[in-house]
Amino acid sequence: MSNVRTNTAEQPAYPRVGEVLLSAEAIASRVDALGAELTTAYAGLRPVLVSVLKGSYIFAADLSRVLRAEHDIEFIRARSYAGSESSGSVLITGLEEVSLQDRHVIIVEDIIDTGLTLKMLTKQMRGLGAKSVKTCSFLCKITDRRLDDTPPVDYFAFEIPDKFIVGYGLDLDQRYRHLPYVAELNPEKPT
Ligand code: PRP
Repeated sequence: MSNVRTNTAEQPAYPRVGEVLLSAEAIASRVDALGAELTTAYAGLRPVLVSVLKGSYIFAADLSRVLRAEHDIEFIRARSYAGSESSGSVLITGLEEVSLQDRHVIIVEDIIDTGLTLKMLTKQMRGLGAKSVKTCSFLCKITDRRLDDTPPVDYFAFEIPDKFIVGYGLDLDQRYRHLPYVAELNPEKPT
């Protein structure tokens, strides 16, 4: 891709955006591979991708385009954080408008951190009569804060260190979701 923004010291696009951890090219290549894996796994099953907004909007769109098996896509919302700290509770909205009875569901997330959101989503989807519920997350954080009873993350593109990161859907107080790469956050400089 030719329009990749490099957040270098010479070209500081955004002062809070630091080292690029995953380039747009690395992401595209890995998402392609995930698409191929899901294409084989879900051939003939017409799964429904349930994109968990806001964070998964870019990943879901990219994944949908490389999943070469017929599928539907739905969108729900889950909110769990205030600022950069987990609030420990999750508000899920939009699930009431989605029909999952007897469907093969793929939860599409941007990141699994403590696992609380995934735990709640999986439970609710099973309660709605889904035939199978699997998870495909763009990122899986390596953290000791993962809850013991977190459901398995069946598919993920990358494992990522326990740092605060932005880009490719992930935000800092709603900023930087649009970046085509994933970068570490710089510490806030006093103004
Ligand atoms: C993020 C992310 C996941 C969840 C993961 O959502 O999109 O849904 O947190 O964290 P957990 O594993 O600790 O539950 P967030 O609440 O930041 O909302 P957003 O997607 O709108 O940014």
